[in-house]
Amino acid sequence: MKYFLDSAKIDEIREAYETFGIDGVTTNPNHIMNSGKPFYTVIGELAEFVKEKGLEGVDKFPISVEINPHLDDADEMVEMGTKIAAMCENFVIKIPCTEAGIAAARRLEQKGIRTNLTLVFTPSQALIAAKNHSLFVSPFIGWKESSGEDCAQYIQDIVTIYENYGFLGETQIICAAVRTGKQFVDCAVAGADIVTAGLQVFKDSFYHPFTDYGLAKFQAAWDKTITD
Ligand code: E4P
Repeated sequence: MKYFLDSAKIDEIREAYETFGIDGVTTNPNHIMNSGKPFYTVIGELAEFVKEKGLEGVDKFPISVEINPHLDDADEMVEMGTKIAAMCENFVIKIPCTEAGIAAARRLEQKGIRTNLTLVFTPSQALIAAKNHSLFVSPFIGWKESSGEDCAQYIQDIVTIYENYGFLGETQIICAAVRTGKQFVDCAVAGADIVTAGLQVFKDSFYHPFTDYGLAKFQAAWDKTITD
């Protein structure tokens, strides 16, 4: 399972790449706003980052960039997606799973511009993303679980549907808004391709108090042993 960082902060992306080798990045308008920088400045920095690391190419390190969320016309969505995609070969155009968004994603894929259908909350939305050949689909996990739903079956259903029709791997499932280590495990057990989460969520998923407890115990033993 691949790990994407859900962030538009270049220092966080650098840290996550250098310390635990993230495989890509997802951004959204919220993350861009939180970076405190103008939209085109941020995505310009992301384009520079992949050059600096020799990661050019959507297969090497995909970066999802979301179009203006106010757009509700497929022509305008295609126009903005085309402009963003021209800035960097790593950019995948993130589009909401609305009727206009589905039409725009279909047309962008037909032009060879890769897309990520986002704000997906049902398996039937995930199905249309795959039928239209989006590179990625982003079912949101954390939002649904915050409102009381268990998402293990939700992800499993999307994986099963994709398996049934040969979509698995063609449209890669990015489990989005992941908040806990348990959700990482649910996504991995179901066979999802990717999880995307914030930096602290990844760090928390690596942490276990028994690791610290065991380390302290072994340090005490080491100190009572002749080791030279
Ligand atoms: C997914 O691609 C989204 O960017 C993301 O996961 C949205 O959720 P969040 O910002 O609430 O984590």
